[in-house]
Amino acid sequence: MEPEQPSPDTEQESLHTEPHLPPPTLWPIGFAIGIVVVLVGLIINPELISSIGGVIAIVFGFLWARDATAELRGEPLVIEPERRETREAGEGMTAPPADQQGVALPVVPDTAVTRSRFLEGATLGLGGVIGGVITVPVAGFALLPSFLSQKQHKVDLGPLDAFPLGEWFVATFTVDPAQGEVSRRTAFIRNNGTAPDPKTKKPVPSFTIISNRCAHLGCPVQANGPTGAILGKKTVTEHTKNGKVKLDPVVPAGYGCPCHGGQYDVEGNRTAGPPVRALDRYSFEIDNGRLILLSTYSVSHVVGTGADAKIYKYKQAGPGEHVDGPEQWLYPLQPPHH
Ligand code: FES
Repeated sequence: MEPEQPSPDTEQESLHTEPHLPPPTLWPIGFAIGIVVVLVGLIINPELISSIGGVIAIVFGFLWARDATAELRGEPLVIEPERRETREAGEGMTAPPADQQGVALPVVPDTAVTRSRFLEGATLGLGGVIGGVITVPVAGFALLPSFLSQKQHKVDLGPLDAFPLGEWFVATFTVDPAQGEVSRRTAFIRNNGTAPDPKTKKPVPSFTIISNRCAHLGCPVQANGPTGAILGKKTVTEHTKNGKVKLDPVVPAGYGCPCHGGQYDVEGNRTAGPPVRALDRYSFEIDNGRLILLSTYSVSHVVGTGADAKIYKYKQAGPGEHVDGPEQWLYPLQPPHH
């Protein structure tokens, strides 16, 4: 007697009245909210808000991944199984006798990996690998420099005698001799004599050391005024641990940028054009009677001049970046600039 087969109508109905999709989940939404909080935090407060967003994204991402991989990990699913899959595995069907219609299909054990499971796992695994290959390097290059401390270079500019009191020099030097010319920098330097130390109140050497990198887009600004031969003075070359340091005498009335016409006064304050702040400055120290340049810092503006100047200093910012006022919040986390 022929086994009873379901009618096509009954089959269609049963296939479409059963739920074949996983139930809706809120984990992806929580994960997306976490990512948004991380990105907003990068603008507002990287340490606090981005950390909170990271925790949210990790928690919801974990719950999402746990749900998505429940079947692979052998956990019972909440959904009804799809009927077509059970028939593919031979369940509920009567296999023909081997001596009449060929070899009967082997019985598939429950623990075996079915084709659909294999494809699902392969898709998830391959998708994860491709996603990781694409996103990890991009995220690394974009974010890691912000969190890695970079080596601080000290630049020996020569003995203090090379900088007579009150005179300006255009100094050119290499920050890292091993890197060669790509690390060449220029600074405008004036020996201000001495100024009281903010803590001890004892007189300490005072220098004004201004970077020539424009605060608009980073072009090299030039001194507005006569230099070297025009002044009847010679350019001095000092031989230091950092290689040759050239000191070109100058009498600046200010500084000008050849790229877009940005102008600065002699203390580096912006006076005209597109720059958004004053010129950056170098911190320094005196070591064994020699002037040593340290790292750069950014300046919003300077009040006064020389040893009496009050400098509004900030952490080193990139060209075009505001360091004060509400505009500073428009700039996301920046990598260190030197
Ligand atoms: S780079 Fe200097 S004004 Fe634009």
